[in-house]
Amino acid sequence: MKQYSHLILLYVILIFSSCAGDKGEYQVSSPDGRIKLKVEVEKGNVFYTVTKDDNTILVPSALGYRLHNNIDLTANFEVVDVKHRSYNETWEQPWGERRLVENKYDEMSLDLRQKKTGYELQLIFRVFNDGIGFRYKIPSQKGLNECVILDEITEFNLPEVADAWWIPAYKEKFYESLYKLTPTDEMDTVCTPVTLQTHDGHFLVVHEANLTDYAAMNLFSRDGRSLSCDLTPWSTGEKVKATLPMQSPWRTMIIAETPGELISSNLMLNLNEPSEIDDTSWIKPGKYIGIWWGMHQKKYTWSQGPDHGATTKNVMRYIDFAAANSFDGVLVEGWNYGWDGDWTVNGDKFSFTKPYPDFDMEKISQYAGAKGVQLIGHHETGGASQNYESQMEEAFKYYREHGVHVVKTGYVSEKLDGKEFHSSQYGVRHYRKVIETAAKYQIMIDNHEPVMPSGLQRTFPNLMTQEGVRGQEWDAWSTDGGNPPEHTTVVPFTRGLAGPMDFTFGTFNFTNPVLPDTRVRTTLAKQAALYVIIYSPLQMASDLPENYIQNEVFDFIKKVPVNWEDSRVLDAVIGDYVVTARKDRDSEEWYCGAITDENGRKLEISLDFLTPAYTYEAQIISDEPKADWEKHPMLYEYKVKQVKSTDSLFIHLAPGGGQAIRFIPE
Ligand code: NOJ
Repeated sequence: MKQYSHLILLYVILIFSSCAGDKGEYQVSSPDGRIKLKVEVEKGNVFYTVTKDDNTILVPSALGYRLHNNIDLTANFEVVDVKHRSYNETWEQPWGERRLVENKYDEMSLDLRQKKTGYELQLIFRVFNDGIGFRYKIPSQKGLNECVILDEITEFNLPEVADAWWIPAYKEKFYESLYKLTPTDEMDTVCTPVTLQTHDGHFLVVHEANLTDYAAMNLFSRDGRSLSCDLTPWSTGEKVKATLPMQSPWRTMIIAETPGELISSNLMLNLNEPSEIDDTSWIKPGKYIGIWWGMHQKKYTWSQGPDHGATTKNVMRYIDFAAANSFDGVLVEGWNYGWDGDWTVNGDKFSFTKPYPDFDMEKISQYAGAKGVQLIGHHETGGASQNYESQMEEAFKYYREHGVHVVKTGYVSEKLDGKEFHSSQYGVRHYRKVIETAAKYQIMIDNHEPVMPSGLQRTFPNLMTQEGVRGQEWDAWSTDGGNPPEHTTVVPFTRGLAGPMDFTFGTFNFTNPVLPDTRVRTTLAKQAALYVIIYSPLQMASDLPENYIQNEVFDFIKKVPVNWEDSRVLDAVIGDYVVTARKDRDSEEWYCGAITDENGRKLEISLDFLTPAYTYEAQIISDEPKADWEKHPMLYEYKVKQVKSTDSLFIHLAPGGGQAIRFIPE
């Protein structure tokens, strides 16, 4: 990643911003001065508070750790050093929702020491114009070269109960729940990101950045005001095992006034380290189809048998379809030994180098190469991460030798290796090993059943996309019938803030005779719009080739980019509707997507994001007046219009509907 050189580094060392008796106050503000973070040390206890303009965002909130051997790093501290610095750079993403990212913040670090024990702890705070981040560092010190974290005592204390969009931690599978909207005092223990709307009109998102060799952060609340950190434990109860010096992930809070500002926040990415991969030329966003939806719809099987999906003949048919319709890749699931029996329990039977006899890897990879189509590999582990690790080098080598540059990984199981949470330090270590090993073989990763993303794609841009969301596959088999129409108006402002989502839309056939009680609850126009609304550098067109119709909607799916110069939310109410515009990275074209929940609606959007010098041809796919998700999902209209940046567009959205627009400068 290129670093732009206008960075200013300003170091000012101050000892004690203000200190009276056994009380000290230390403050750092955002570059625009609107957000202020104050740390108070009173009688040895350390608290922080946050304000924006005249509003209290967080009231005194505790910080610290409880370690093994009764080491209590929550009290009896004095501040021995304070450092301030300002930072300003603009860096370029190899792929993303925007090319250039401004990274501008003021930082304050506090060195703390306990009076009696002499134990040291460091706190680093960064305040950006869009929110705050802070992390702990435990230095290597006398009598402490390693530690076991029993609890992290980080609090985010709200002045009053807020509304929250949340999913439960631990209980449901792999973060694949529908988001609930409740007051914070009715929340369970929740995963982050958790999105809050306060009564004074702020949108706050608590999450973490750079989750490295640590456990994922969850939050629980006793009274709806105090949100406390709850790290996912090991099966033995400890939270984190570390050799010192160690540092925690960044604890982050985006502070915004509109839902759209949440999407334009770069806080999480900025709190990750720059790329460790120097040559990123092999990392390429793209669109893919796959031998996949057929298994979820029970037309095909992953395992061998009369309905096996991944046969040489079928894969070649998919390759032909991809080549004819300019898709970059074909995902193939169920090609290798291990799927027979209950693979979610016996994942350790998976071989990652031994294909089923009816899958001829040599023939298929040569055919794909000749047609200019990438094979997308698949490593389902069934949660048996040790079995996977024992074959990992060979597995990536095998794919590399067969021209595969993208691998989808999967961890379907209650716990990893039968006992550890996916979001535990155990899981975090495993997922990192996969990303790093894949990078060695120049392989990009699409990780399903992940630990919640935290912006690591900045450091490892081969980590393209992840699941960790209730995606469109639930519409094939979920006993509750599938995702309700509002789901996709919520996830961009919740899970989507943690990073790209492999949601897998692109359906043309909304029902399935094999599982008649489920369906995809959108209109066709909404399927197209979702490619603009939900961001991923790898996007799937998930339906069976035989279901696609060569019409304007399919044409839009083929043309819509997956890598953007810029992205803007034009209008949104979380849970109701979203309108997003994105500019292509490789041309002057803009794309706009609008989606709604179960309610039809009319919106007016200003086109002032377009370049004033151009007239554009707007190619508009909209719901027909009679369309709706339930009875007439296929009804759409296609219109072409000349527009300029001074124009507005009236958008009609059917119940469960959407609109997709391509703007081509003339
Ligand atoms: C769950 C994944 O989300 C899905 O995409 C995949 O097809 C199955 N696991 C099998 O690996």
